[in-house]
Amino acid sequence: MANTMKASPAKGKLGILLPGMGAVATTTIAGVHAINKGLASPIGSLTQMGKIRVGKRNKKSNKILMKDLVPIHNLKNVVFGGWDLFKDNVYEAAVHAEVLEPALLSKLKTPLSKIKPMKAVFDKKYVKRLEGSHVKKAKTKMDYAEAVMRDIKKWKKDNKVDRVVMVWCGSTEIYIKESAVHQTVASLEAGLRKNHKDIAPSMIYAYAAVKMGIPYANGAPNLSCDVPAMVELAKQTGAPIAGKDFKTGQTLMKTILAPGFKARALGIEGWFSTNILGNRDGAVLDDPDNFKTKEVSKLGVLEQILEPKENKELYGDMYHKVRINYYPPRGDAKEGWDNIDIRGWLNYPMQIKVDFLCRDSILAAPLVLDLALFLDLAKRSGMSGIQEWLSFYLKSPQAGKGLQPQHDIFKQLQKLENTLRHIAGEDLINHLGLDYYEK
Ligand SMILES: NC(=O)c1ccc[n+]([C@@H]2O[C@H](COP(=O)([O-])OP(=O)(O)OC[C@H]3O[C@@H](n4cnc5c(N)ncnc54)[C@H](O)[C@@H]3O)[C@@H](O)[C@H]2O)c1
Repeated sequence: MANTMKASPAKGKLGILLPGMGAVATTTIAGVHAINKGLASPIGSLTQMGKIRVGKRNKKSNKILMKDLVPIHNLKNVVFGGWDLFKDNVYEAAVHAEVLEPALLSKLKTPLSKIKPMKAVFDKKYVKRLEGSHVKKAKTKMDYAEAVMRDIKKWKKDNKVDRVVMVWCGSTEIYIKESAVHQTVASLEAGLRKNHKDIAPSMIYAYAAVKMGIPYANGAPNLSCDVPAMVELAKQTGAPIAGKDFKTGQTLMKTILAPGFKARALGIEGWFSTNILGNRDGAVLDDPDNFKTKEVSKLGVLEQILEPKENKELYGDMYHKVRINYYPPRGDAKEGWDNIDIRGWLNYPMQIKVDFLCRDSILAAPLVLDLALFLDLAKRSGMSGIQEWLSFYLKSPQAGKGLQPQHDIFKQLQKLENTLRHIAGEDLINHLGLDYYEK
């Protein structure tokens, strides 16, 4: 049965604010400028190129663009801004990141040079390998949060923007476990006033956005909005939230392959994953405390998909190892290498090798864009709190209380598509056969 949920129209200008204007952020911003100038195409973005089936399978030509089903904000009316501890404007930062070719960047130099980062909320304790001077100074973490809120209000006015969303594209911070300070809005706010050590800068930006009812997504594995206090606040202020950690290279491959092995009841004895990368993200992750945050995010994926406790014979003894190695010559062109030891009929062993010569920021940029545009759609549809349908984009998806996160990319896509149908007031598709469906 169709429902009646409708999104309000995507009028005016949408501001996309990115704390952290490094490789991923600048590749996203430069990419959108290039696409709007007709210089490139938005490959990898569902909001721009994704198609969706509407109605029954026996109808011809019922696959339409997602952006024709629901009112996704037009790319031409998007404005970017953000914060960083380095002063470089977006053109300079993109040149430094060495992701996009100089020939393309030079065509975009004028608009990109105009985008300058605001001063960051930064503390070296949380990202040990970085040092920057373009930072705010305040007494308490609550003062910092209020400074970010003032930045947002001013930026919105200066850029004549109607609505704002925020996507964390900053560095991976040291590993912090969820603790008492993260449990309620009251405890979090008290912690902000008392400079509690378990509140990292990424959580200060998240608090500022969510407090203002601004949709927030977290592209790094930091706790950020993935704590009960932030979920409670998001419900109070009507902010949709999604976290955490963009699902790009190796984990994307894992969540494509593992559901296939499980579907065919193939056993897995071991899955060894290693990476070499040489960008600033790689340098940050070279510190063991920062790597730990990423490791935890990467390791959870197989467990949820394969359910070793329920499938002991196939996956009960599986050994899963993930490594990230900083190797400067590769820059942003990461190599993600997997060795998978599988077992087939009569327990005979086989091996699969995956060598993904990928480009980290090229894979991440469409995710930043889609998360921003879908969160804006969610806000205009009256949705708030955790947006599980955006798990599709995330390595370690946030799930509702007591629920297991969904990692299988195909189930994630079904959830995303059905949510769009729901927003559009269309029938949901449950893949029952025609005999049942037609009655
Ligand atoms: N590229 C990918 O495939 C991918 C996948 C998953 C997650 N991520 C995550 O996305 C984030 C960005 O990746 P990247 O390759 O652009 O890294 P990057 O190092 O090029 O950029 C991060 C930027 O964040 C800035 N920063 C750090 N702390 C900040 C703070 N408190 N306030 C404002 N700015 C701050 C840094 O100065 C840097 O410019 C990282 O956390 C990374 O782990 C990336």
